[in-house]
Amino acid sequence: MNVKHKPKPDPNGHSPMAPLRRPDEQIVDNLTTAVLVLDGELRLLSLNPAAEALLDVSAKQVRGVKLRQLLPAAEIFETALLRVVDSGHPLTERDMQLALTGAPPIAVDCVITPVGEHALPGGLLVELLDLDRHKQISREEQLMSQNESARALVRGLAHEIRNPLGGLRGAAQLLERELGTEELKEYTRIIVHEADRLQALVDRLLGPRMLPSKRLINIHEVTERVRALIQAEAPGGIVVDRDYDPSIPELYADPELLIQATLNVAQNAVQAVADAGHILLRTRVHRQYTIGQRRHRLVARIDICDNGAGIREDLKDLIFYPMVTGRNDGTGLGLSIAQSLVNQHAGLIECHSEPGNTTFSILLPLVNVPGTAFDADAGAHA
Ligand SMILES: Nc1ncnc2c1ncn2[C@@H]1O[C@H](COP(=O)(O)OP(=O)(O)O)[C@@H](O)[C@H]1O
Ligand SMILES: [Mg+2]
Repeated sequence: MNVKHKPKPDPNGHSPMAPLRRPDEQIVDNLTTAVLVLDGELRLLSLNPAAEALLDVSAKQVRGVKLRQLLPAAEIFETALLRVVDSGHPLTERDMQLALTGAPPIAVDCVITPVGEHALPGGLLVELLDLDRHKQISREEQLMSQNESARALVRGLAHEIRNPLGGLRGAAQLLERELGTEELKEYTRIIVHEADRLQALVDRLLGPRMLPSKRLINIHEVTERVRALIQAEAPGGIVVDRDYDPSIPELYADPELLIQATLNVAQNAVQAVADAGHILLRTRVHRQYTIGQRRHRLVARIDICDNGAGIREDLKDLIFYPMVTGRNDGTGLGLSIAQSLVNQHAGLIECHSEPGNTTFSILLPLVNVPGTAFDADAGAHA
């Protein structure tokens, strides 16, 4: 997404000095439907946070700006608006293509209602419901539950292998002591060596076992560590760029776990671009953003973009499953573990990939921290 400006993160939806929002304003602010008010000349008068997110603008910056300046290609939308200005009758357009600037068009349900005859001649109230985003949310939900059940299966299996493996190894060592010749001991050593190899695999399958130890961190602690790590191990030709939003509020998280998750994703990017590629680490913040079923007031996003060949078509729906790999020497555990580490923070990893342009987005809600004034988790259900 091409973010032209960065909406100010504002944990309470208003600065401490600003007057309290009126209840009706709070309702509109918390809607997941984008709501816009335009005058008869199609100038933008007001936008709610969902509309800011959809159009990727800040309400302050675009107040008074003509719609055509903001969305020059949105002819279908403009025609519909002008029809309502002319007729004075409300209009509903289902599954309308809305051409955005700097992003692919999206499908929306659009309701246009004429409002305020005297105060605002020709004024329009517009509701836009992002249908693609809704489809995406149900896809995400599916992704989360698939990953959870796959990981539970693998974890259960790994536990079952672990115990007899210990017994096997111990017995082989005892046997070795009883054996007379070096030749025979070679066999028990093979058993011990293979048991160790399997043990290492089982440990990887189980993933990091420590409980998260969360504290307030700056998300750039995570991205900067990952940048240093991949730059150290990447071949010289790879360029690692950053595009950070320094205004993202602190995040209540376990930095080590997030570094591990981000690193797993970034290492794939390094492998995907080979030795003359370009990797970008980007951070952004979203207001009123839904992850799975849950809507959060503020969500931080880390994007890891690369210009490699893209995810293989036959793997696209599978890459977050454990043991799915497209590489000869891959384990297929990197993304599955990363996803479960991010899930432990109530977040989600999504990905979009086409040849030359792959982006993995790590979405992390900025949640309540007990004992601080920071209360960013709306806890609402979308
Ligand atoms: N940035 C990327 N570009 C292309 N393919 C990717 C990318 N990230 C992941 N993949 C695909 O997803 C697969 C699974 O990744 P992962 O779970 O980390 O396991 P591994 O790296 O061991 O294969 C990779 O083997 C690769 O085919
Ligand atoms: Mg990997």
